[in-house]
Amino acid sequence: MKVQLPPAIARLLGSATIRRSQNWRGCRKIISATSLHVCTQTLFSRTDDAFFATWCPRMTPDTIRLTVNGKVHDIAVAPATPLLYVLRNDLELNGAKFGCGLGECGACTVVIDGVAARSCVVPVGSCTQRHITTLEGLGTRERLDPLQAAFIENQAAQCGYCLNGMIMTAKALLLRNAHPSEREIREALRYNLCRCGTHVEIINAVMAAAGRQPSSGSDRDAAI
Ligand code: FES
Ligand code: FES
Repeated sequence: MKVQLPPAIARLLGSATIRRSQNWRGCRKIISATSLHVCTQTLFSRTDDAFFATWCPRMTPDTIRLTVNGKVHDIAVAPATPLLYVLRNDLELNGAKFGCGLGECGACTVVIDGVAARSCVVPVGSCTQRHITTLEGLGTRERLDPLQAAFIENQAAQCGYCLNGMIMTAKALLLRNAHPSEREIREALRYNLCRCGTHVEIINAVMAAAGRQPSSGSDRDAAI
């Protein structure tokens, strides 16, 4: 299905319409938020350097140095590319998930310099000189991070799609506060979505990793 483009964007792209894709609704929001560069790479099959050099200088491939899980990588990529795409497609680190692509669900969360960040809306060009930790950087199968062990112990998963975000957001919390209260845990995770409704087990897992006892059922239900 063809979608009519707004005149300003049509002028930039040299085309009045594009083919509709699954990402169109989300990307329309991004366009309106002026992140046109990301959208052009995501939506339009214009990947030639000349096109981007002319119309979208930030989409022209550049060599970006990234430090991920302690390893340094030099990657030829346009600076405006979302960090999530580079992690998954270039570095084959698939812990971070694509959920909404809009910074709203938390599935793509990584830790950058100790702070939880939504990698679907972080341009890779802003990540040089920073230390990025992904889920793969926490522990191994043989030596799990205590947080990962607590999630397993508490059976805190159904489909598992949200878990990367839950774990990485909780990890950032525990890095700045090793023994957060239940209220602080809830506050930290409040913008991470779990469509399966595993919230109680997830909170219990983070409480266990923080060295706290899960609250009683009535307290818990009141706080959910
Ligand atoms: S995929 Fe990044 S917040 Fe949803
Ligand atoms: S366990 Fe399925 S979305 Fe959270």
